[in-house]
Amino acid sequence: MCGIAGYIGERENTSEILFNMLKHLEYRGYDSAGIACISDDVICISKDKGKISELEDKIHSDVVSDIGIAHTRWATHGQPSHVNAHPHTDCEEKFCVVHNGIIENHAELRDELEKKGHKFTSSTDTEVIPHLIEDFYEGDFEQAFVSAVKRLRGSFALVAVSLRDGDRILAARKESPLIIGLGDGENFIASDTPAVIHHTRNIIILDDFNYAVVLRDSVVVKDFQSGECVKKEVHRIDWDVKQAEKEGFEHFMLKEIFEEPQAVRNALKAQKDVEGIASKLAGYGRIYFVACGTAYYAALAAKYLLERFGIPSEAVLGSEFRYSTINSIDKDCAVIAVSQSGETADTLVCAKECKKKGAYLTGIVNVVGSSLTRVVDDNIHIYAGPEIAVASTKAYIGQVTSLIMLSLFIAREMNKIGEEYLREMLDNIHSVPGKMGEVLAGVDEIKKLAGEYSGKEIFFYIGRRQNYPTALEGALKIKEISYVHAEAYPAGELKHGPLALLEDGVPVIAIMPNDELLEKMESNVAEAEARNAIVLRVSEDGDFRVPVVDPLLSPLLYITPLHLFAYYISLRRGLDPDKPRNLAKSVTVE
Ligand code: M6R
Repeated sequence: MCGIAGYIGERENTSEILFNMLKHLEYRGYDSAGIACISDDVICISKDKGKISELEDKIHSDVVSDIGIAHTRWATHGQPSHVNAHPHTDCEEKFCVVHNGIIENHAELRDELEKKGHKFTSSTDTEVIPHLIEDFYEGDFEQAFVSAVKRLRGSFALVAVSLRDGDRILAARKESPLIIGLGDGENFIASDTPAVIHHTRNIIILDDFNYAVVLRDSVVVKDFQSGECVKKEVHRIDWDVKQAEKEGFEHFMLKEIFEEPQAVRNALKAQKDVEGIASKLAGYGRIYFVACGTAYYAALAAKYLLERFGIPSEAVLGSEFRYSTINSIDKDCAVIAVSQSGETADTLVCAKECKKKGAYLTGIVNVVGSSLTRVVDDNIHIYAGPEIAVASTKAYIGQVTSLIMLSLFIAREMNKIGEEYLREMLDNIHSVPGKMGEVLAGVDEIKKLAGEYSGKEIFFYIGRRQNYPTALEGALKIKEISYVHAEAYPAGELKHGPLALLEDGVPVIAIMPNDELLEKMESNVAEAEARNAIVLRVSEDGDFRVPVVDPLLSPLLYITPLHLFAYYISLRRGLDPDKPRNLAKSVTVE
């Protein structure tokens, strides 16, 4: 979703500071961007449509200023354009706001404000906010800001500056992330930590209904409903700055795929937490997973695994769970919410509702301190480090690793498997990073295959049981970064309809671990080949070659070549794999 930034301090190159902060938030949206700085009693705004890298000359000005706010947008209301780009102002350009989220009652507020004579220039929901502040202003910026915030329905992280009080930044949060980076004589505001880590490692994480008054040398946080001060903990960012840089790779996505072996190792570090949580989960009659996109496929793989052990479970997409599965949730259920960002609104709202209904709630989350981690009863961190590319790769590997471990421990707790088998499987997981390294060493072969198939306009991905999610993940990756139509099916389902689409030259990627379903997979492959489709096998001796691994761990190892394949297809099609059109990394609206 959108990325927002703010700076107040003693340095006078605010525009440059904000521009660099935006570059680290670009994964959150990149259809337009803008910066507002206060200088000589004027709010200087520069903004336009386009990616940040294309806008350097337009939005980064040399204006001398020590306070400002900035935004990179993923459009919800109003198409990407100069007028719809943030920051937005009131009629007299005295108040200026950037916003991430959706103001659900914007139409009603706009109507009310227009009747009072306010003039709007954009078609965004955000523009009502500076006009509301203007409307409430009676000599106190903070009071007007809080009154405006209280009128908003929906989700928001918003940051405002004003010429009426040019010495402070005000920020508020409800259901969209916002952090404050604490510097020495200067403070920073951002949607996420990569934007501030080059300046400070000390951060405050705002919670829902918090607002902050940010001055150069102090930050006060209050609750905007009660007006009371809120005591906040200072967190320390403990990851390395380099982790948020490309480090010689052409794209973040490629770097992150090459970090997949390390993602397995990192997820394994949480084994003690996993063991403790598994013993709690084993006491519940029903286990549900809730997640979206790639995280959902990781959850689906875990559901198949639990079922292999005779443990019933359900994996449901967040956007569906909230309106259907939620009715079956009560205190006898355990719910596992899986999310890289920990901010996905569709997943987060389900988690909150499950908690209200008394379910035991566990998170499998990457981003430390994210909203989901603060809602759940217990959390399993995957420790994958910052994932910047919009397409999730190493986080998927971390999620699948944690979920396999969790499923094994639950099965042991429920006496579905013995201690010896558990230990053997844990040893097997520890061998996966080395095997992934072998897959990555074959990158040139995969690149060559991508070159041969990059012109195709349709792909099929097929797999059975725990590798049906692998097929879904492979297909999603190619869809989102290559804009190619890709269908994923449980292999046995092809003959029930989709086979009609197979004809000469259509590529079918078949995920074929060496297990008892291999013969069935061979039959499905034969059905495709009989229609002259080109079958590319992911197997021990296939077109995408993978080392021998226990078939239960194949969802981990068999996806790495498909991540690489999608990446190189995107490159061959002349696209930017890190920033696919219409998408954003963290989807904080429902
Ligand atoms: O941050 P989350 O894991 O909750 O995100 C869920 C999805 O939005 C995400 O996995 C999305 O599908 C990715 N772009 C897939 O590559």
